[in-house]
Amino acid sequence: MCEACFELASLDLIQDELPLVLDEEADHTYAASIEDYSHKPYLTREALSSTKFDDMKSNAVRLASYAPVEHQLFSLSFDSTYFDIPGRAPRWASHSGTDYHGTWLPQTVRRAILRHTRKDDRILSNFLGRGTDAIECFLLQRRCCGVDINPAAVSLSQRSCSFETPPGLTTAEHRPIIVQADSRKLTGALFADESYDHVLSHPPYKDCVAYSLHIEGDLSRYTNPLDFQEQYDKCVRESWRLLKMDRRLTLGIGDNREHCFYIPVGFQLIRLYINNGFELEELIIKRQRYCSAFGLGTYLCVQFDFLVFTHEFIATFRKVPRNSNDKMDSFDASNTKSQMRITYTCREIPRSPIARKSVVMGTVWLFKPSSRHSFAQLCTSRMVERFGKDESNWEHVELEIISDNDDSSLKPSLANIATDSMVVEDEGLSISSYEIERQKRIDENRLALLQLVSSLSTPFIHINDDLTYLFCMAGVDIRPQ
Ligand SMILES: C[S@@+](CC[C@H](N)C(=O)[O-])C[C@H]1O[C@@H](n2cnc3c(N)ncnc32)[C@H](O)[C@@H]1O
Repeated sequence: MCEACFELASLDLIQDELPLVLDEEADHTYAASIEDYSHKPYLTREALSSTKFDDMKSNAVRLASYAPVEHQLFSLSFDSTYFDIPGRAPRWASHSGTDYHGTWLPQTVRRAILRHTRKDDRILSNFLGRGTDAIECFLLQRRCCGVDINPAAVSLSQRSCSFETPPGLTTAEHRPIIVQADSRKLTGALFADESYDHVLSHPPYKDCVAYSLHIEGDLSRYTNPLDFQEQYDKCVRESWRLLKMDRRLTLGIGDNREHCFYIPVGFQLIRLYINNGFELEELIIKRQRYCSAFGLGTYLCVQFDFLVFTHEFIATFRKVPRNSNDKMDSFDASNTKSQMRITYTCREIPRSPIARKSVVMGTVWLFKPSSRHSFAQLCTSRMVERFGKDESNWEHVELEIISDNDDSSLKPSLANIATDSMVVEDEGLSISSYEIERQKRIDENRLALLQLVSSLSTPFIHINDDLTYLFCMAGVDIRPQ
């Protein structure tokens, strides 16, 4: 134990609770002592898994479950780009939400593994924490290499994966390799170029949680957003180097605040991936519940009139050749041949029956637009309700882009689009089979959409917002002639 840790150590925190023996009758088999790895002072919480493992006997624990049980299955369904598990998210096997700060949900990890990898695939978890990724890989027979810079995390992960396994569930070769290393620079035989089929990355959300006080290279110690990004860029480059071409990386990330400023850590990191040869394939907003800092966060938000953080992002990237992806870098407004029409409407803010500041609201707002109220109306109304001031006014500003090329004659007709969409242009570029398949699916979807639009576009149909949206997507002009 290094000196700084020794000073920090408080042995009183280590509890002598009885181990949780889930099956009293079970024969425990000897695994290995992991006591030497324990580095308790780094832990941001006290529990240290003492309820789950019997270190005194150095026995492996037989778990109560090795996969989500039937009544937990509901928590695994991701059916849209918004993911929320109402209540406390269920856990299984040796997952725990309480002995390490900032664990991500096993549901997120299981989904990524099942969706993007096959049995025996090699998976890198470059911010392992207490081992969520390693546990899931082990249970699902993927070969995981888990990396964390913090010895406490390494120790905890070893514990998390040291359970007895029932025959037939998994094999020794799927037992994860857990190493203490810096994900900014991974060297050695384990980290050869293009040797991984998937990367699971759940880094610190900048300095949201301090994982250590003095570990050199711990990303949670970079408080300045630019310094953090500069360091994280190295991890992104390493991920690109280690991942096989066309394979995916799953990122879990959240935003935070510095003083009074909102720091969009999530978007900043997503930008780094895109700039370094990753294509963003999917972005899921995950509702965050039961964060340990929720109490303090809520207090500060009420004090300073902010929204409480209740969102995180789960992003899926695909590795593509560097510089081949669309970086979406430049939007030069001066280059667009369009004008902006701006209209201003002044409205009164109704008096609120309660102090607006006392309303605790999160960063996730759900709306149900209807034929009476559009999404824009509902959103504006909530903004005014939450951030308005009694007996004052608010101004409704509407922007409309009028393009010089806004000539309906230039717009392709339904028939034209339908035919064009079938043409596969070959400009001599080498396109991967994945890309060809993807383009084919896009074309099929577009065609299905156009057929749907054509079947709806009769004079008897009331043009509502959804329909307008469909027409816009299909490039069909629906303005009255
Ligand atoms: C958000 S936690 C990961 C939690 C994990 N997903 C879990 O479920 O337990 C972030 C982890 O990144 C680790 N970390 C910070 N900087 C690192 C670096 N340069 N290399 C490797 N790990 C690092 C921290 O020690 C911390 O354990």
